[in-house]
Amino acid sequence: MNSPDKAVFTKSNLCVVGNINRDIRVAPLAPGDYLFADGETSASSIIETIGGGGANSACAAAALGARVAFIGKVGADALGDRLEQTLVRHGICSHLSRDPSHPTGTSINLTFENGHRHFISSLPNNESITLPELDLTALPSFTHLLRADIWFSKSMLFGGNEQLFRRARNSGLTVSIDLNWDPRWGVASAEEVSARKNAVRATLSHVNLVHGNIRELNEFADSTDLETTLGCLEQWGVSAVVVHMGSHGAGYYHQGQLLVEPPAPVEQRVNTTGTGDVLSVCMMLLAHQSEVPIPQQLKLANRIVAEFIEGKHQLIPEL
Ligand SMILES: Nc1ncnc2c1ncn2[C@@H]1O[C@H](COP(=O)(O)OP(=O)(O)OP(=O)(O)O)[C@@H](O)[C@H]1O
Ligand SMILES: [Mg+2]
Repeated sequence: MNSPDKAVFTKSNLCVVGNINRDIRVAPLAPGDYLFADGETSASSIIETIGGGGANSACAAAALGARVAFIGKVGADALGDRLEQTLVRHGICSHLSRDPSHPTGTSINLTFENGHRHFISSLPNNESITLPELDLTALPSFTHLLRADIWFSKSMLFGGNEQLFRRARNSGLTVSIDLNWDPRWGVASAEEVSARKNAVRATLSHVNLVHGNIRELNEFADSTDLETTLGCLEQWGVSAVVVHMGSHGAGYYHQGQLLVEPPAPVEQRVNTTGTGDVLSVCMMLLAHQSEVPIPQQLKLANRIVAEFIEGKHQLIPEL
């Protein structure tokens, strides 16, 4: 079978629950101690885009042609209005709650010429999300739910996510989570880290697809090798795992078997961040398309990400 055309994405839909905020993106800076001294550094560009893992994934899915809804929370402020307008302008059905006591957040994305990055974030709206304030009326008209940014709101982490997944599964949706990197790993006490991991592990029997890169998946499972990690995830109840493997491509683990597809060639690197999100969105949109075998799904996803890296897809809109 030939690799399917990206027109297949137009048959799909995705409902996303997650973070939304403004990203202020600074063009890559030369790394160095000068950044900690008094002074001023000029950058070749600074732009405002929509941000938050959830909102970014919603925008990517919509840009690929899928029917998309986004559920989240903003403050009762002008920035919240601008973010909502950006979602709507890009064809996303927006279900944003407004919270006068928690303003819409911003993240300053510093990127460096050596590929490192540092985000300076204030995200009161996202950190304070609770399940009762989310508008979930759209849920039953979708087939797949992505719960992005699972680590950010304590209320969702300790109870809310599990209830959300139960509601989604009862409405007939399959569920994805991207494990990402918990910002508390390596920072908080061992007790706190383990309580947070256990809270997520307890939800996994309601999760169909888990996504993450090898380092994140291993850290989550307290393991040092991928095979052990994938076995743990399966034992905790997930049906399948999408593995982001960087320059080695992408993997799909199901019932004890890991299929790996090498990456598509990349000629120039325009976008360096967000590649994992794009890969995973492609796999979510293909999850219900059983006529496309898994190796073909991985191939198509790798190809879309390669085109994204080369700057051929504008998936994350400016505000
Ligand atoms: N050098 C590369 N050449 C071609 N494709 C690549 C390359 N690096 C990454 N990719 C593609 O991007 C996908 C996801 O990237 P990666 O594994 O780096 O995800 P990630 O670590 O979750 O990234 P992030 O969270 O920063 O978006 C890979 O599965 C592959 O398809
Ligand atoms: Mg990632």
